[in-house]
Amino acid sequence: MVLELKTNEPQPTTITRENIYQDVTPFERWLFQVAREDPVRARRLLVEWVDTLPAYDGPEDGSDVVPPGSPAPIRIPEYWWTPVHFQPGGFANPKIIRLSYISREQYTFTREDVIREQLSTLYAGMSPRRILDAGTGTGTSAFVFAELFPDAEVIGIDLSAPYIRFAREWAERRGLTNVKFYQQNAQETVFESDSFDAVHFAYVLHEMYAEDARKILRELFRLVRPGGMLSMFDGVYPDTEEEREAKRRHGKMVGAEPFLGEYMDLNVEKAIADTGFVNVTRHLAVPDGMVVTARKPN
Ligand SMILES: C[S@@+](CC[C@H](N)C(=O)[O-])C[C@H]1O[C@@H](n2cnc3c(N)ncnc32)[C@H](O)[C@@H]1O
Repeated sequence: MVLELKTNEPQPTTITRENIYQDVTPFERWLFQVAREDPVRARRLLVEWVDTLPAYDGPEDGSDVVPPGSPAPIRIPEYWWTPVHFQPGGFANPKIIRLSYISREQYTFTREDVIREQLSTLYAGMSPRRILDAGTGTGTSAFVFAELFPDAEVIGIDLSAPYIRFAREWAERRGLTNVKFYQQNAQETVFESDSFDAVHFAYVLHEMYAEDARKILRELFRLVRPGGMLSMFDGVYPDTEEEREAKRRHGKMVGAEPFLGEYMDLNVEKAIADTGFVNVTRHLAVPDGMVVTARKPN
């Protein structure tokens, strides 16, 4: 497929599974600018460009990515098929990886240096031995946990098999042996109750219906041990109804974040407390995200 570009606009370079780790190219940087200035054109260009990217395909039932001995295929919730971030097939699109990889530089708490700084502060003085990163995507938060706590076992899970395939390759490239990636629905995992010292998620709960997000919180509560820690980076829940309404309208209008209104209805900090977590604390909020922690009672 040929992208409709003017002669003075940057041309895309060919992305392969070998060079996918390269820095953002001039074309990609320009594409992000178009997304801000002309979302309608950006949507078309993004769909066409993503279609040219390498796919992280595998067996249809995901049997290569589920935890050893556990059933495949896993159950996929219905919201999963909604187009998000302009992508047909949403996160299930096996070609979405490069877009997610370069998008890390676009948001505060997807940047690896910021994640490292935040997690070192939030977990200062703690030595969790088993950590879960739910909705790990390309795996950045899981990698940071694995590097901060080399003696811990870190598990990153995602509904998307392509992300898991990519994250495994990236872990190998980074030389990390204490992180594992599995395809799992964070609403109903195969892991044992009370088996993690810390559970974490980043930019996950704003991608689904409020009721689906509550199911994930209930599952994370089940998985973390009494006294264990929940940490999250996700969209901001503004203080005023006016600002929340603006986010609902923005989500609908641009089409990149169709569930932003649901996330406003969820009110994530309240939902965390409703699940049974205590000491729900907002540490930091910036326009594109906030940092919250909580504890499972002893
Ligand atoms: C916006 S991405 C964030 C990825 C990553 N945490 C980051 O910060 O870069 C949201 C991720 O949540 C995953 N996800 C959505 N629903 C999920 C579920 N029920 N179980 C596991 N992962 C889920 C998506 O596949 C996607 O990878």
